[in-house]
Amino acid sequence: MWLYELSVWLHILAACAWIGGMAFLVFVVVPLLRRPDLSKVAAAFVQKSGERFRILGWTCLGILVATGSFNMWIRGIHWSSFFDGTYAQNPSARALAWKLLLVAAVLVVSAIHDFYVGPRATRLWEADPTSAEAKRARRQASRYGRINGTLALIIVLLAVFIVRGIPLG
Ligand code: HEM
Repeated sequence: MWLYELSVWLHILAACAWIGGMAFLVFVVVPLLRRPDLSKVAAAFVQKSGERFRILGWTCLGILVATGSFNMWIRGIHWSSFFDGTYAQNPSARALAWKLLLVAAVLVVSAIHDFYVGPRATRLWEADPTSAEAKRARRQASRYGRINGTLALIIVLLAVFIVRGIPLG
């Protein structure tokens, strides 16, 4: 059924775009903006690129939930099985249960980071880059970003387990 293959393809592409985008921000943009010659534009650049990535990030998360639900359905894993406990008989569903818990955590952490902690940090950073409050807010924003990055890597590992039916606890 080509629709299933298309759904898995879109699911993997959305995961690539979301995780790849986070990696680019963390390993390319943020370290570069620590250079003294870029310090004047750093706060505005992080704010503007953060706002643009927010649109891409949430679009990807939406695609992941939609195509993930379809993939689940094709695999005969129904949402009700997580509530009546029958999912435990299916190794893929057990890995998926852990994955969905982490996806829920990612949605909460992303919302706090993208709509509160992140914008607050760039606002304080732009107002007074040397203030203790701005530095604290930037550290907090980085911490949320790193939590999300770590969760994303574990989610992909669980996804590999789902597809190969590797039993998990
Ligand atoms: C942050 C969100 C997510 C990421 C990064 C992610 C990532 C992935 C990746 C990379 C695969 C392919 C694994 C492989 O082929 O070895 C996959 C497969 C899968 N994902 Fe997700 N996923 C996410 C959210 C979800 C959600 C919310 C659901 C369910 C509602 C879901 C259900 C599935 C299913 C059922 C498969 C197996 C597809 C198949 O039949 O081959 N995923 N996921």
